[in-house]
This record gives sequence, structure tokens and C-alpha cells, in this order.
Amino acid sequence: MGVTATPVTGALGAVIDGTDPRDDDFDFDAVHAALLEHEVVFFRGLNLNEAEHLELGRRFGSPSVFPVARILGATEPTMTVIADGPESPNAADAWHTDVTWTATPPAYALLHMEEVPETGGDTLWASATKAYEALSPQMQEFLCGLTVIHDHEGFAQAVARKAGDAAATIIEGLDRDYPPVEHPMIRTHPENGRRGIFYAARFISHIKGMTESESDAIIRFVGEHIKDPRFHCRWKWGNGDLAIWDERATMHRAAADHWPQRRVVRRLEIDGDRPFFTADA
Ligand SMILES: [Fe+2]
Repeated sequence: MGVTATPVTGALGAVIDGTDPRDDDFDFDAVHAALLEHEVVFFRGLNLNEAEHLELGRRFGSPSVFPVARILGATEPTMTVIADGPESPNAADAWHTDVTWTATPPAYALLHMEEVPETGGDTLWASATKAYEALSPQMQEFLCGLTVIHDHEGFAQAVARKAGDAAATIIEGLDRDYPPVEHPMIRTHPENGRRGIFYAARFISHIKGMTESESDAIIRFVGEHIKDPRFHCRWKWGNGDLAIWDERATMHRAAADHWPQRRVVRRLEIDGDRPFFTADA
């Protein structure tokens, strides 16, 4: 039996069956192709340990040293363990693409469910390409001309709440090493040429060259537009599930409806290139 990719919704997402990353005959090409087509793929009950998780990540590119880990001295790729609980509520319940406040945000993320809450705690993904394609040609053309300033302000606020004693060091490092960065509002996918909305609610500062009220209005419009469920899929996790998503084609949010239950995930990011827009796509 070959590899199958069963769609989760009409917008994006597919469940992969028929191949295991630990096997010698693991069909990476089929998984990669499914990921390019469906934008996020899921493996049920895979139960990867940390070394296997990292090894699978290497198939997709260079595993990232997460900025916070880098500031704290890490030089090797880092797994980020995100543990929600009574004292550390979920901080990812807003539509975003990861770490867009860097010049070269990640290309992929691999998220492994370590400890699923009894109820709630789903993750939702939105297709940036489907959301773009649903706009009128006039709005597409307008947004394609915009440059957006992203910064780490929203991220630093979350760090300040969660990082305890290390918070001051991290924020100082963020201010020093990660100045605000310009990204296109609409990015061209480097592998398949599709256009997608490049959006991260808490990391967007303003639109370059616009008045504050114009910038606010456009950002609000985009933020509302991507909330349409016809662009979404939603994953109800089981322990050991793995999701791999294309950061260049999707946005995601983690539903914060499991508090105060515990929910633990392990995430690996894969380095990406500088986002760009090409007019002749
Ligand atoms: Fe995220």
C-alpha cells in the first residue's frame, strides 16, 4: 500500500497514512508533496521521541535555533516545549505565522503532542493561499502593493508574563538582536509560486507609508477576513500526534479552551528564507 493523504477539510490539511518516518523506506517525497498541496499534514499516534522528531525535521531543512534559545546561549537546534497549565495559560490563541518578527521566519514547523488535555486544546490552521484567492482582484492588487512592519513587541509581552527570572535577559536580547522588519503583505511561495496573506496578529506593527488610521483599518480588515471558517481546518489531538505545517502558506492558533488543564507540546521549526513577493506570479 502506498502513502495516502486524506483531506481534513476542503480548505487545507490532510492525514497521512502508509508511511512511518522511522522506517527505512519512509516516503519523504510523498509527504513533502502532500505538504505542499495540503499545507498542513497530520500523523496520528506517531509517538516520536525527541531524536526522531529532530531527525524528521532535518529532512525538511535546517532545524532552527529558536530566537529565545539563541539569546540564552544555544547554538544547536532547539526543541521548544510549550507546557500550558493553571499557572501558564495558553498564549498562542490568536491567528499567526510563527516568529514573523525575524527577517527570515521559519519555513516549516513540526509539532508533537506530548500531553493532550482531557477536553479542548485543539489547534486551528488557516490557509493563507485560500484566503488570498477569495479576495476580489481589486483587493488582491491593492494588498499586493503593501509592505508591513513586524516587530517583537507582542512576543516580548508574552515572554514577560511567562519567562520568570529570564524575562529581562530575553527582552534585552530581543531589543538588541531583532529590530523591526519589513515583510510583504502578500508573499509568493518559494516552491510553488502560490500567493498567500502573510499575517501574524500580535507581531504586526503597521503598514509602511500609510497613516495610522489607514494602517489600522487594513490590518483589521485582513484580520477579520482570515477568520472565515471556510479557510480553516481544526485538529483534535491525540497523544503522540504530529502536525507538520508549511509556515509560508498557513496561519494557526491554539484554542485556549483547555485552561486550567495541562497541555504539553514539543515544537521544532525549520529555517526559512526571507519572504518575498513577485508581481509576475
Ligand atoms: Fe505558533
